[in-house]
Amino acid sequence: MIDASTVLIALLGHPVEHSLSPRMHNYIYAHAGINSAYLAFDVSPEKLQDAVNGLRALAAKGFNVTVPHKQSVIPYMDSVDNAAAIIGAVNTVANNNGRLIGYNTDATGFLRSLEYHNIDVKDKSVLVIGAGGAARAVAVALSMAGARIIITNRTFEKADELANSISSMSSNSLCTAAPLNELKKLDSPYLLVNATSAGMWPHIETSPLPEDYDLSDVNVAYDLVYNPIKTTFLQEAEKSGCTVVNGLDMLIFQAIEAIRIWFNSDVLYDIAKNAVKDFA
Ligand code: ATR
Repeated sequence: MIDASTVLIALLGHPVEHSLSPRMHNYIYAHAGINSAYLAFDVSPEKLQDAVNGLRALAAKGFNVTVPHKQSVIPYMDSVDNAAAIIGAVNTVANNNGRLIGYNTDATGFLRSLEYHNIDVKDKSVLVIGAGGAARAVAVALSMAGARIIITNRTFEKADELANSISSMSSNSLCTAAPLNELKKLDSPYLLVNATSAGMWPHIETSPLPEDYDLSDVNVAYDLVYNPIKTTFLQEAEKSGCTVVNGLDMLIFQAIEAIRIWFNSDVLYDIAKNAVKDFA
């Protein structure tokens, strides 16, 4: 129940009306005994600084940041953790007595979802489709987990740039780029990740892969998209015998990670999954 001790967690985005986060967080708080309320605020880019200062003044416990503010919020942070600095984007902010610390729970969320499904990518080949913000978080996570990464993208130059940037993270980081029309020439990856918005509602017929791409030797297909829950890509992968993982798990695990940062509390996957069960 909301009372005088209830702490505020906010979501800042533009737009935010379709976000599942308020529903998921408030359900988790109620079931985990956390006295907090999670509210979404539609904040236009020119109001971002005012919104951040307002949350600081109100002593909000923290906030999530989504499109289009994940990069532009960084200058308003007092410090940024290592993963967020490497990814170049913040999606979770903790307010420690007026000091704002920026985190990125997408990479950790992605890794924890792989662990949950017993998918070990160390020394295995992983093909990532996409070269935007989500692909970058996934590629950083995969690099930390010791995978051999290949990045492909509709606009090849962006794949090439991202691969170079991931390779330069550390001498152990193995990351190359391949054009979409040359994927057929490569060995099938162990894990194939769609980190583009291709296939997302309302363009649900779209697949991020070339039509003649053979999925039968791919072990696991992971789509970051969760609307629809089973994209055309995942349907094709399932028909070809792949294990499939949808984007809801990354959403769940990045929320669990944010709650650990804000409340030092470990929420069970099953509780978080229940919060979005009507959606899945
Ligand atoms: P996000 O933060 O979700 O990653 P983004 O940074 O805008 O969003 O990146 C979107 C990614 O999806 C890009 O890799 C984009 O490809 P381009 O670089 O060629 O634009 C990819 N993408 C979006 N719509 C797509 C489509 N219909 N088919 C293939 N790729 C698509």
